[in-house]
Amino acid sequence: MARAAAKVILLGEHAVVYGAPALAAALDRGARATARKAATDRLTLGERGSVGGDGSELARGLEALRASLSAPPQEVTAELEMPAGAGLGASAALGVAIARAVLESVSPALEPGEPAVRARVLEAAAAWERVFHGNPSGIDAAASECGGCIRYTRAAGPEPIDMLLPLSLAIAVAGPPASTREMVESVARLAERRPDLVGKTVAGITSLVDNARLCIEAGDLPGLGKLMDLNQMLLAGLMVSTPGIEAACDTARRAGALGAKLTGAGGGGCVIALADRDAEPILAAWRAEDLHCFAATVGGPERPA
Ligand code: MEV
Repeated sequence: MARAAAKVILLGEHAVVYGAPALAAALDRGARATARKAATDRLTLGERGSVGGDGSELARGLEALRASLSAPPQEVTAELEMPAGAGLGASAALGVAIARAVLESVSPALEPGEPAVRARVLEAAAAWERVFHGNPSGIDAAASECGGCIRYTRAAGPEPIDMLLPLSLAIAVAGPPASTREMVESVARLAERRPDLVGKTVAGITSLVDNARLCIEAGDLPGLGKLMDLNQMLLAGLMVSTPGIEAACDTARRAGALGAKLTGAGGGGCVIALADRDAEPILAAWRAEDLHCFAATVGGPERPA
């Protein structure tokens, strides 16, 4: 059984597609998969299934992933431990878990922690992601593969970040699932119509991300929260926020969150809120509005009492 983490983007989604840096952190839930050699490809994902050559995205994804690993046909069973289409990197977590499972099946002697093996997993997960998302920056798969907290650019890839303090996050599903491909394409259309606006927004988000990295390294949680709020404003300017996302962010801030924003592609999906210490008051406020929500602690040594 191979596993891989889902992720949250702390700051920088969408801008990262245009080469800007972004910050992401792995969650303690994600996807799991098993694989074994078979006469033809078969992939079972919960209630969904595909057979090699049926033209479905799942079948094409598995074929691309296998081709990247030069692996023979596989029978794969995979499960998600979190909602799909919510901005938490479900498809990348699946790609990483399936790539690990296929490598385990074809080369059981390989050491999963070896840099060369990790690079192969990331490459295969990227091939899978391209089938589902067209032009992914690669941050979702990198966050899933690396774990912890990373800074990511398309050019330099993932770089681990040392966190002085753990981040206590509250996460709510603030809208129906949205397609990452469609949201990325909508920003691309805006960039064609208004290159000035999107260019300035990407530059603004770059500064926020650079400052947020310093806050994470220094343990400046109020500073990080303010930068998340500013990032949310710039994302709204890219037209990827929704009334549901704005309402969930407002509720979180009124309940004491240091900052709140959408995470992932937007258009629906999840909101993250940074808690000072205890995420519970934010979760209680969201539950009172019937939002599905949960707490997640990301990285860092134990915080002193
Ligand atoms: C999706 O989790 C993040 C986006 O920036 C798309 C990508 O980076 O591939 C919206």
